Amino acid sequence: MAYNIDEYCNHFRKLLESQLLRCERMENESGRCDFSKKEKIVIGVIGGDGIGPIIVDEAKKVAEKLLCEEISCGKIELKVIEGLTIENRLEKNCSVPEDVLGEIKSCDVLLKGPTTTPKGGTMESANVTLRRELDLYANVRPVAIPEKNIDWIFYRENTEGEYVLGSSGIEVPEKLAFDFKVTTNAGTKRIARAAYEYAKANGKTNVSIVTKANIMKKTDGKFSAICHEVAKDYPEITTEEWYIDIMSANLVNENIRHKFQVFVLPNLYGDIITDEAAQLQGGVGTAGSANIGDRYAMFEAIHGSAPRMVEEGIAHYANPQSILRALVMLLRHIGLTKKAQKLEDALNLCNSENAVTVTGNKDGATCKEYAEYLISKL
Ligand code: IPM
Ligand code: MG
Repeated sequence: MAYNIDEYCNHFRKLLESQLLRCERMENESGRCDFSKKEKIVIGVIGGDGIGPIIVDEAKKVAEKLLCEEISCGKIELKVIEGLTIENRLEKNCSVPEDVLGEIKSCDVLLKGPTTTPKGGTMESANVTLRRELDLYANVRPVAIPEKNIDWIFYRENTEGEYVLGSSGIEVPEKLAFDFKVTTNAGTKRIARAAYEYAKANGKTNVSIVTKANIMKKTDGKFSAICHEVAKDYPEITTEEWYIDIMSANLVNENIRHKFQVFVLPNLYGDIITDEAAQLQGGVGTAGSANIGDRYAMFEAIHGSAPRMVEEGIAHYANPQSILRALVMLLRHIGLTKKAQKLEDALNLCNSENAVTVTGNKDGATCKEYAEYLISKL
């Protein structure tokens, strides 16, 4: 049987050209936005799908309470952005419709609820589109379990690896399928730099590079080599190298896990291991996630839109803590350190008191009850 190999090769040629252009754009980047120089900061608030609008609504009320002075003097604007819903995206057959993207780009930072990705088909995840369109290259996910002496922070590369061409694979029907994984020098340098700079600024002494470079020789091999190269600029920090399989085991190994501090890793491994880490902390409903670029940043819950909770009629029992932790990171990112600390302290207090506990089910408090209790502590 003859295959149309030229057609597949042409497809690959286009991908290669587009990725080389992306490399050039990254090489010409202009550097981080300085929020202290901005007269006004616009925070876009996006509900998303499923439990998204429920948790984001409560987070917005918390933000309004916390930032009432900044909002009333015009230093901060909370701008609600509609239309990033699965219904609208399916209707327009577009993962992030043009007009919605325009609204998003008029903001500085975003607080975003989870969005649903249709299984199969060709529609890309809205998250992946936004991370690419806004060039949010660092996915920063802290996980802390103080009573076990665990204080981790994951620097997950967020724009390339398995994700960048995840919807552009090749399939020869009834025969085989290819997906592509892309690792670039510039893309790796910037995530490595972000991880080491964080370590340096926060008195961390240890960074773990996590790959599967024994198997993914070209891509992970490059990731590892470039991280080591960047590490040379931080001689005071110890660099360790681990493979993702054993690192997944390490996170549940009580004898060593507390020794890890900062992790830097490619996109897909970062996706998987941060869910594991969040579960150890108390569930994916408890962890926040920051997507940071030089111009924009987007803050969200680590989890998805939980369609099952909606189907079972328990969506309003969703835990808002993850999006609230994301709000803490957002406030720190725009320089409102004291406000961030205030919210973080209130969240920790609510957790230690255990007076209002969200379980994600009817036996627990509702999302709204938790948020109201939290606001009373601010
Ligand atoms: C995450 C999510 C996303 C990812 C999905 C929603 C595309 O799992 O932010 O970890 O895979 O990155
Ligand atoms: Mg994930």
